[in-house]
Amino acid sequence: MELTYPRKVDLACTPTPLQYMARASHQWGCGHRLWVKRDDLTGSVLSGNKVRKLEYIAAYALDNGYDTLMTCGGLQSNHCRATALVGAQLGLDVHLLLRGDAPTDHDGNYLLDQLAGATVDCYPVRQYVEDLEALFEQWRGHYAGNNRKALVIPTGGSDGLGVWGYIEACEELAADFASAGIEQAHLVTASGSGGTQAGLTLGAELLNLPATVWGVNVCDDEQYFVNKVGADVADWQLRNPGMPRFTVTPRVLDGYVGAGYGKASPAVFELIAQLSRLEGVVLDPVYTGKAFAGMVAEIASGRFDGCRDIVFVHTGGIFGLFPQREGFRHTV
Ligand SMILES: Cc1ncc(COP(=O)(O)O)c(C=O)c1O
Repeated sequence: MELTYPRKVDLACTPTPLQYMARASHQWGCGHRLWVKRDDLTGSVLSGNKVRKLEYIAAYALDNGYDTLMTCGGLQSNHCRATALVGAQLGLDVHLLLRGDAPTDHDGNYLLDQLAGATVDCYPVRQYVEDLEALFEQWRGHYAGNNRKALVIPTGGSDGLGVWGYIEACEELAADFASAGIEQAHLVTASGSGGTQAGLTLGAELLNLPATVWGVNVCDDEQYFVNKVGADVADWQLRNPGMPRFTVTPRVLDGYVGAGYGKASPAVFELIAQLSRLEGVVLDPVYTGKAFAGMVAEIASGRFDGCRDIVFVHTGGIFGLFPQREGFRHTV
């Protein structure tokens, strides 16, 4: 169907390629064809899935007179890094509220936050968890008191505005499927704040993409993501009352969080190294490595039997690899 998209700022290098992974298919496919949608190639430092969401969020900020972007996340948040760089590209100030004590070394995304000139405040985990909304309110008031206007972007840019980025990605996937001869596919993505999964799930429904969308949760659990994806879709419907009404079915592959958010097992590090060698595709230990591990395990258990094609959406995260270099001490 014809969708009326809100305005966006062109920030992402799209369309990203859909690549067939012959050797990975041989290694883990159990007869399926494995593909990768290279959303890690949406840019260089400004790369990964967050850029697609930020195209819409940044346009909203510019169109509504905001001069500052505020957002939050972990110390190595890809979303915060992407927001910092978007702000620098567009001449907007960026203020990041990060979860955890300020690190002594500047590494990975945290280094890029600083290079991009963002104001960075780190809060102890407990304070962050308990007081995040109050902190945002306090800072928003601070900016308003100085005649400034700060837009609060939710964790991961995941809400009814950010999801447009992955609705639009489904248009690309429809073209990818046509040129690759894919008639039906399972689509697997990492889920952290739910917006990517929500956008893909919505987009597949709206555009009749012949795909079943699965999120591999890298934190929390299945119920959390069923609710979160549902909430993002409901928010999208509220903001876009002219769009068709339907209920989506969020599908979650739970069981791959391991020891917790940001903590990958030796098997995940080994898998990252293997895929790097096999295909020249590099995953990260926080999101895509766990999601890929989940996909491989579910293939082996027969979850996707009966469907030839499986598309892994590579959502980026490369800079999160470097602070976790220790994890590779036995593999490289
Ligand atoms: C590299 C990477 N992949 C996947 C995700 C998950 O996307 P979402 O937050 O939209 O669920 C994130 C962020 O959370 C990310 O940084």
